Amino acid sequence: MSFTVAIDGPAASGKGTISRAVAAQFGLGHLDTGLLYRAVGARMLDGMDPVEAAETLNPEEIDEDALRTPDVAQAASKVAAIAQVRAALVDVQRAFARRAGGAVLDGRDIGTVICPEAEVKLFVTASAEVRAERRWKELAAKGHRVAYEEVLADVRERDARDAGRSDAPMKRAEDAVLLDTSTLSIEEAVARACAAVEAAGGDRRG
Ligand code: CDP
Repeated sequence: MSFTVAIDGPAASGKGTISRAVAAQFGLGHLDTGLLYRAVGARMLDGMDPVEAAETLNPEEIDEDALRTPDVAQAASKVAAIAQVRAALVDVQRAFARRAGGAVLDGRDIGTVICPEAEVKLFVTASAEVRAERRWKELAAKGHRVAYEEVLADVRERDARDAGRSDAPMKRAEDAVLLDTSTLSIEEAVARACAAVEAAGGDRRG
C-alpha cells in the first residue's frame, strides 16, 4: 500500500528541510523533484536541447551539489515552463510516489498534478524576504558570493514564472494544509508538518 506526502511551495520556502525531516521521522523515501528540473536546466546551460535533456535524464546520475547555484535555479525555472519537459518527468515522479514503504515528494505541482491523491498535502510558504535571507545564508555557507538583493530578485522572478506558467503552475491544492514558516523555527515547522502526517495515519519510527 502506498502512502504519499506531497509538499509544495515557492522558492526557498523550506520544503526541502521539512521534507527530509518528515521522511526521516516516518521512515519514508524522499524525492526532491526540484533537482530533476535543476538537472535539466544545467544540461540546457551546457548547450543541450531542454526537451532532449529531460527525455534522456538519468535521475541516478544527478550531482546535487553542482545544481544548487542561482544560475541553475533560474535555468530550472525556465525549462520547467516547457510542457514537453514536464511530461518527460512525470513517470519517474509517480513511480517514486508509489514506492513500497511510502514517499515524500517536494516541488511545485505534487499535490495538484503529480499526486492529486496524496494522503497528505502541505503548501509551505514564507515571505519573499525571509525566504531570500535563508537562501542567501545557505549559499554563503557554501562559499557562493552573491548579494542578498540578487537572491531576493531571483526568488521573486522564479515565483512569478512558476506561478504564471500555463502548464502545472505552482499553486496550493485546495486540500493542502498551509504552513507559513515566516515566523517559525525549523523545529516548529517540522513539528507541524509531522503532526499533519500523523493525523493522516502516518506511523512515526520508534
Ligand atoms: O530549492 P528551491 O525551492 O529554490 O527550488 P527547487 O525546488 O530546487 O526548484 C527549482 C525550479 O524547478 C523551480 O523554480 C521550478 O521552476 C521548478 N520546479 C517545478 O516546476 N516543479 C517541481 N515539481 C519542482 C521544481
